[in-house]
Amino acid sequence: MTAPDARLVLLQEPVAEGLERMRELLAGQLDEASPAVRDMTGHIARFRGKQLRASLTLLAGEAGGNSTDEHPAVACIVEMIHLATLVHDDVLDGATVRRRVACVNERWDNQVAVLLGDFLYARAFALSTELSSRMCSRVLSEATRRICVGEIEQSTRRYDFEMSQGDYEAIAGAKTATLYGAACELGACYPSGNEEGGARMRAFGYEIGLAFQIIDDCLDVVGNPEVVGKSVGNDVEDGKVTLPVLWTYARASEAARSRIRDAYTLPAEAVEEAASGRGRAELLRSVCDLEPGVEYALARAGELTRGALERLEGLGASQARDALEALGGYVLERRW
Ligand code: IPE
Ligand code: IPE
Ligand code: MG
Ligand code: MG
Repeated sequence: MTAPDARLVLLQEPVAEGLERMRELLAGQLDEASPAVRDMTGHIARFRGKQLRASLTLLAGEAGGNSTDEHPAVACIVEMIHLATLVHDDVLDGATVRRRVACVNERWDNQVAVLLGDFLYARAFALSTELSSRMCSRVLSEATRRICVGEIEQSTRRYDFEMSQGDYEAIAGAKTATLYGAACELGACYPSGNEEGGARMRAFGYEIGLAFQIIDDCLDVVGNPEVVGKSVGNDVEDGKVTLPVLWTYARASEAARSRIRDAYTLPAEAVEEAASGRGRAELLRSVCDLEPGVEYALARAGELTRGALERLEGLGASQARDALEALGGYVLERRW
């Protein structure tokens, strides 16, 4: 096990039992009579990912003294929605590797991946209707709507080098931080809806989730694919101008801006030649120094995380609260 994994295990420790139950439920949900579907769900279950959002549901419940028997099921539903977004996102991004194995769209094809994503959403919402409270269905259907809006907005803003940081954060927030916020809100106040505690934990999750996406965007332009375990450089390939690039572009000379735009837009053959077959992200790195932009983005993620941690101040001391704090640090330092 690598060092970051050991750290993850440690911060999931206070909810290890609930997570185990969540994993059993998830395995049951991925089971399906159709051999074709079983083949695919077996494939995505092989590498389970970090399960951060499910962990947040359980930790927020535990830290707020609000753990119920249904929390592992709520966490499972959150994780299934996350899985569905990943399967669909890889189609949108034309990604090839996820969790160190081929994406569903790569191993099979786009048609099947779209349908498998739909299957996962259907399973998630069906399970939510079996719970004693409708809160989980309500919060997660709203979160799913916002994720879709975020992905659509992102798609329409491709190649927008003049995008403001506020617009970038609104999109990253919608597509990623929303589910983090929902995971924490549900943990803190499912099933009854303690409004104030729920809103505080939702804000905590949102800020952690936004920091998470900012780090993800840095890993996409400068990360090592061997360590990250998924396709990197895809944002540049797909025309997604993320925070480190926006920052660099805004401060670049006219000539440098033109080279940055070229890295995103030159025909594939020209990129092939200019970057010796190593892709647009490599070309981008060769035409500008992304390091200061990455530093800026990391600092912004740090600021968001510090803000998030302040929201935990009202919670009593517990191992789960400590783990929530540690998760803030983990999100900033993660490399996969
Ligand atoms: C990946 O999320 C999708 C993003 C929002 C960037 P994770 O990195 O949490 O995915 P897994 O579940 O651990 O693979
Ligand atoms: C996707 O963002 C966020 C989702 C809602 C799935 P990314 O496109 O950056 O996620 P990765 O890098 O593919 O995991
Ligand atoms: Mg993607
Ligand atoms: Mg990414």
